[in-house]
Amino acid sequence: MELSSAQKTIIKRMANGRFFSGQELAEELEVSRASIWNYLKALEKVGFEFHAVKGKGTRLKLSIELLDKQRIISNISADRRKLLAQLDVLDVCQSTNQYIAQQHSLKSLLNGSICMAEMQTMGRGRLGKTWVSPYGQNLYVSFLWNFKGGISALSGLSLACGVAVCNTLKELGLGEHGLKWPNDILWQGKKLGGILVEIQGESQGSYTAIIGIGINYQMSSVSSNDIDQPWVDMHKAYGGPMGRNRLAGRLIDYVLGVLDGYEQGGLSPYVEQWNTFDCYAGKKVRIISGGQYEEGVANGISTSGELFLKMAGGKVKNIMSGEVSLRLSDG
Ligand code: BTN
Repeated sequence: MELSSAQKTIIKRMANGRFFSGQELAEELEVSRASIWNYLKALEKVGFEFHAVKGKGTRLKLSIELLDKQRIISNISADRRKLLAQLDVLDVCQSTNQYIAQQHSLKSLLNGSICMAEMQTMGRGRLGKTWVSPYGQNLYVSFLWNFKGGISALSGLSLACGVAVCNTLKELGLGEHGLKWPNDILWQGKKLGGILVEIQGESQGSYTAIIGIGINYQMSSVSSNDIDQPWVDMHKAYGGPMGRNRLAGRLIDYVLGVLDGYEQGGLSPYVEQWNTFDCYAGKKVRIISGGQYEEGVANGISTSGELFLKMAGGKVKNIMSGEVSLRLSDG
């Protein structure tokens, strides 16, 4: 559901977490107190949680650091800013990946065109899943980059970007995070973020990659009702506010660095680092595809992003990411 402009105004006013009386909000929006009450009820339905105290008013249970383009850019190093063609910071969109694709079809975008949004109404995950994208609570960012050469060269791109995400978190002082092949970001085994790379073919063997990254920043339990796996957010993992704009800026910095070098070097320069971040290395796993599964021991990745799966008997099978998912084997 998209927020109405009155609802957005309420959230922006309340983002800092201070108490507001119904009267105060009603005067500001020039509506009745009953309308404010209805807006707050509707906001609760889309995942906002409020805390009401008699005599004090109502506040957001979790304060929100709204996205701020200048603050994001101030966290990108001067060198990497040169790679940033444009940064669109939206309030609400269907999906930042879809927005970038649409803009690109209207007017070819330059490498380093980026879109972020406070909320996605149709956030996309891998394997056709929905990516839960409530307002102001997480990070949703998409990058556009054009590559020459065959599409197969792009098979490791999402894994290289996974290394960029992990290096960002490491620089900001998080520990115990890592990667689950092909490109889930985990913290203590729970999902902290994910990457969805969508590729469009262009003329003369040139391809456009749209790299979408979602990181759970501070998600209310109501918003997360639709997530079908154990998850965690940065607040919990870091033990407090890391800074949403700071995280966004540093993430953009690292990802632009990877995108800039990828055409030349591919995944190779990142394989060793990827393996050090691999949460499932040496573990017995299941590769699931269309209801069937294969079991083996996860044994690192190839320079084209395939998973090495060591089968019983010692044979190693190369698994391509495509439409497969990976789980730990039971027992
Ligand atoms: C996954 O399934 O793990 C991948 C999730 C990718 C989510 C991000 S959020 C920004 C971008 N826009 C989308 O619709 N999806 C990606």
